[in-house]
Amino acid sequence: MRMRFTYSAFLVVGAFSYALAQSVVPKNPFGHGPEVVAEGHAIFNQTCTTCHGMDGSEGERAPALVGERRFFRLSENALYDTIKHGIPGTGMPALNLPDESIWKIVVFIRAMRSSASEVDVPGDVAHGKQVFSGKGGCVKCHMINGEGGTIGPDLSNIGAQITLKRMKEALTVDGPIPTGYQPVKVVTLKGTTIEGVAKNQDNFSIQLLDNQNHLHLLDRAELKSVEESKISLMPHNYDKVLSREEYNDLLAMLAKQATVNLHKKVEGDGEVGR
Ligand code: HEC
Ligand code: HEC
Repeated sequence: MRMRFTYSAFLVVGAFSYALAQSVVPKNPFGHGPEVVAEGHAIFNQTCTTCHGMDGSEGERAPALVGERRFFRLSENALYDTIKHGIPGTGMPALNLPDESIWKIVVFIRAMRSSASEVDVPGDVAHGKQVFSGKGGCVKCHMINGEGGTIGPDLSNIGAQITLKRMKEALTVDGPIPTGYQPVKVVTLKGTTIEGVAKNQDNFSIQLLDNQNHLHLLDRAELKSVEESKISLMPHNYDKVLSREEYNDLLAMLAKQATVNLHKKVEGDGEVGR
C-alpha cells in the first residue's frame, strides 16, 4: 500500500515537473522581421563587441559569430541559452540582459547565418536564368545541374552553401583567390602557351585546367615559365555591368540553387559547414 502511494506520488510530481519544464521552454516572441533583425544588430554592436567583433565578425577575445557556417549553435533556443547563461568553462560569460534584448540578438544572429536559400530573395528566377547564360556570361565558367563550364566552381548548390551577403560579395567585391582557382599562364620549353587555373601544384608539377576545360598535368622541368596572376578570373563588377533588375533576378535564381542541401535546417548543434 505504502509502496504504491509513493510510486503514484512520484508520477504526479514527475508529471508536474514535466509540465513545468514545458511551460518554461522560452520562445521567441518577436518573429523574424527585418526591424527585429535591425534592433538585434544594434544591441549586439552595443553589448557584445567588447569581445566579439562588430557586426558579428571576429573580435579580439571571442570568435566570429557570423561568417563560415561551422560549429554554430543553430537553434534559437540554443543561442538564447548561450547568451543568457554563457558557456561554462570558457570566456563566454552569462550576460545580464533583459529577455527581450536577448531574443532580438538571437534573431539577428540567425538572420546573418542563414544560407541564401533560407532567406527571401525577391526576383524573377526565370529571367535570372537568362542573365546567367546570356548577358552575364556565367555559363561559360560555371556549371548548374550539369550544364556549363568548369573553370569556376559548380553553382548547382550555391544557395545552400553561402549566405546572401557572401553571394553579393562574390559578384561585386575583389577578394582573395581560393585554392584551386589561381589563374596561371605557363610556357613550355617547346614554346606552347597554356592559360587557365592551377587545380593543384607542388615543387615538381602543376595540374592546370585550361580555358577550354582541358586538364593538363605538367612537369615543372618541362616549363620555361610559370606566371601567376593576382586577379581572379571571376569578374567582380556585376553591380555595374548588369541593370538592377538583372542583378536582382540573378541573385534570386542563384539563391534557389539548393538541390543537395547538405545543411537542411537542422535544429540543434554541430552543423557541418561547406
Ligand atoms: C567577455 C567576453 C565576451 C562577451 C562580452 C560576449 N562573448 Fe560571446 N563568446 C565569448 C567567447 C570567448 C566565446 C567562445 C566560447 C568557446 O570557447 O566556446 C563566445 C561564444 C559565443 C557564442 C557561441 C559560439 C557560436 O558560434 O555559437 C555565442 C552565440 C555568443 N558568444 C554570443 C554572444 C552575444 C550575443 C554576446 C552579447 C550579448 C556575447 N556573446 C558577449 C566571449 C564573450
Ligand atoms: C571567366 C570565368 C567566370 C565568369 C564569366 C564568371 N565566373 Fe564566377 N567564378 C569564377 C571563378 C574562377 C571563381 C572562383 C574564384 C573566385 O572566387 O575568385 C568564381 C566564383 C564565383 C562565385 C563564388 C562561389 C563560392 O563558392 O564562393 C559565385 C557565386 C560566382 N562565381 C557566380 C558567378 C555568376 C553569377 C556569374 C555571372 C554573372 C559568374 N560567376 C561569372 C569564374 C567566372
